[in-house]
Amino acid sequence: MSAHTPTAARTAFGIDIGGSGIKGAPVDLETGEFAAERVRIPTPQPATPGAVAETVVELVRRFDLPGDAPIGVTFPAVVQHGVARSAANVDVSWIGTNIEHVLGDALGRPVLAVNDADAAGYAETLYGAARSTSGVTFICTLGTGIGTAIVADGVLVPNLELGHLEIDGHDAETRASDAARDREDLDFEQWAERLQRYFGVIEDLFWPDLIVVGGGVSKHHEKFLPLLHLRAPIVPAQLRNAAGIVGAAALAARAGTPVAGVKGD
Ligand code: BGC
Repeated sequence: MSAHTPTAARTAFGIDIGGSGIKGAPVDLETGEFAAERVRIPTPQPATPGAVAETVVELVRRFDLPGDAPIGVTFPAVVQHGVARSAANVDVSWIGTNIEHVLGDALGRPVLAVNDADAAGYAETLYGAARSTSGVTFICTLGTGIGTAIVADGVLVPNLELGHLEIDGHDAETRASDAARDREDLDFEQWAERLQRYFGVIEDLFWPDLIVVGGGVSKHHEKFLPLLHLRAPIVPAQLRNAAGIVGAAALAARAGTPVAGVKGD
C-alpha cells in the first residue's frame, strides 16, 4: 500500500480549509485515525472560491480514493446547507457562495461542507476528549477566532457561533481568542481572566456537562485550564490539528454516502 492509499470502504476523506493551509487525509471511521499521511498545501492568496477549488482538486488527486468515499470539507464560517453565510476570518467573496457546489463541481463528486468548529467538536465527541461523555458537551477552538460547537448525546446543532456572544459590550472572540492574547500581549493569567468570564457566561446559558478546549494553544493547556473555576470539568481537546479533517470526514459519511460501520450510526 502506498503512503496515500486509504485502506478500505470504512474510509471517508476530510479536508480542512484554513487561512494558511488546506489539509486533507483519508480517515478510518472506526478509529478516527488517518488512514494515510496528511497532505498540506498552502492556501492560495487571494483565497477566492476558484483558487481554493483548484487547490482542493490538487489535494484530492494526491490520494487514490475509492470513488464512493464520502468527502467532507471544513470552512471557518457559518455554513448553512452548503452555503457560506459569514466570513469572520476568510475572504468576503465566499459569502453567499455554495461551497458544496463549487468544490463538488471541481472534483466531480459530492462534497459536504461544514463549519470548522462543528467538525472539530463532532470529532472530539466521537473519537477524542468527549468520547465517553453523555449529555451536553461544549467544544470550542481558541485561535484567530473562537469556534464553538455543542453536541448533545451525539447530536450536533450546527453553526452556533457562540464565539460572537456579546459579553461586557464586546464580541467575545475579540477579547478571549488566542489572537486577542497575542495582540494584547497578555500573559496566561491575564488571558485566563477573560476565559473565566467567557466560559462563565457559556455555563450560565448552556449548562454543559463537559467543556473541551481545542485550537493550537490547547497544547499549552496546563498554563491556563487549571486557572479556570467552572462547574463543569474543562479538558483539552485530544485530536489536536486532526480534529477538523476527522470531523468533516465523519460528518460526510454520516450525511450521505452509506458507509458501513460508522461509529455513532
Ligand atoms: C467564525 C466561526 C468559526 C470560528 C473559528 C469565528 O470567527 O465566526 O464560524 O468557526 O471563527 O474559525
